[in-house]
Amino acid sequence: MTVTAVVGCQWGDEAKGKFVDVLAEHAEIVARFNGGDNAGHTVINQFGTFKLRLMPNGLFNPRATCVIGPGVVVNLATLISEIEMFRQAGLDPGERLWISPRCNVVMPYHPLIESIFEQAKGGARTGTTGRGIGPVFADKVSYNGIQLYDLFDPQQFMDKLRLQLAIKNPILQAFGLQPLELEAVYQEKLAQFAQVQQWVREPFGLLQATLQRGSNVLLEGAQGALLDNNWGTYPFCTASVTLAGGACAGLGIAPHWIDKVVGVAKAYTTRVGAGPMPTELTDEVGQTLQREGQEYGTVTGRARRCGWFDAELVRFTCQLNGVTGLALTKLDVLDTLPVVKICTGYRRPDSVESRRYWEGDAHWLAGCQPEYIELPGWQRSTKEARIFSALPAAAQVYVRRVEELVNTPVSFVSVGPEREATIRAG
Ligand code: GDP
Ligand code: IMO
Ligand code: MG
Repeated sequence: MTVTAVVGCQWGDEAKGKFVDVLAEHAEIVARFNGGDNAGHTVINQFGTFKLRLMPNGLFNPRATCVIGPGVVVNLATLISEIEMFRQAGLDPGERLWISPRCNVVMPYHPLIESIFEQAKGGARTGTTGRGIGPVFADKVSYNGIQLYDLFDPQQFMDKLRLQLAIKNPILQAFGLQPLELEAVYQEKLAQFAQVQQWVREPFGLLQATLQRGSNVLLEGAQGALLDNNWGTYPFCTASVTLAGGACAGLGIAPHWIDKVVGVAKAYTTRVGAGPMPTELTDEVGQTLQREGQEYGTVTGRARRCGWFDAELVRFTCQLNGVTGLALTKLDVLDTLPVVKICTGYRRPDSVESRRYWEGDAHWLAGCQPEYIELPGWQRSTKEARIFSALPAAAQVYVRRVEELVNTPVSFVSVGPEREATIRAG
């Protein structure tokens, strides 16, 4: 039996969705432990193409149960539409979905408050996905959240909602927005809750029993380590814990259960939203990466910023997560380049020594210059390769160099979005 966490090792969108799909084949439980519908996990398999934001990526395996743990914040409208999407693909959740009643609920005021923050910050804004994620987590940690538990008790929900609107409406009005109407929000949320209530039941017992039985469990992380609220490029980060360690708190699983951590990283770097990105390319190479990699946000459609692989960052995030094997994705996107570069560390004007990510904050990182090594490109398609030795020699050298620089074995290489376009590298 194996308990495997799948986590992002860059700024999100590393293709975690694809790898959860690959690994879910043998899982009894697939569980989400953090974030909310700011995530967008693409899955391409025999059922079609899916972009999952909230639902764990396990329903494709008829033996798997999906769990949404208390570390996740739930947007009920998104949940309903995803359940519908699965039903249309002939995959009814039936008894296979468990959503913790401890999950906090995204309320209509959360995205509005977020838009106030973002507008007020102007050029310094985070560039969020606009899903209200920061404000819903802020309410959670300041004891102002509304949990799914509250929706089981209409009177309790009404009391909490009335209080929250008494706090939030004056803020909305002060910034020129319309106040929210108590009865309308109340009715809307209760009606949405009624559609999902059958699945809202605490999964703790199920998880513990499954772990005790020795079954395979997959823990699906959202976002990436560099968006983590503690270790990311704060305040250009997200609100939740995106690390393998977050799976423990976000699901109620003790650390000793986790056997493997699959860290997912692109063979280059992307970032959507604002904040420092040392290897960002604004030249033609950057445009090639964006075009070849189809780098547009799954949730917002925004163009993703692109740049060279940053081994300094990924070495750090492998340490942070205890990555046991890296999944290096989208190698095919580099196929046409005559030269490929890898960042190995940073230089700053004030020092002669190479510097590390964790030495400074986001502002400090913005002042760092990447140090690169250059490798020859392979200028041949990798898309059809299914074993490591079928990759062009220069591509093999690139992967081995990445492995060396991040000090972590590469277990998988991905050369296309489909499930089959996966090479087991070690
Ligand atoms: P996630 O949020 O980490 O699950 O990643 P996203 O789904 O947001 O973004 C990854 C994108 O890359 C999706 O459009 C995938 O279909 C696509 N993708 C995944 N693996 C590969 C790959 O190896 N090569 C190419 N070209 N595309 C890939
Ligand atoms: P997946 O799971 C990429 C980014 C946003 C913004 C910052 C804060 O698909 O990898 P938020 O809405 O969370 O308050 O936005 O975090 N962000 C992501 N970027 N992939 C994601 O999820 C992201 N979720 C949030 O772009 O910079
Ligand atoms: Mg994504």
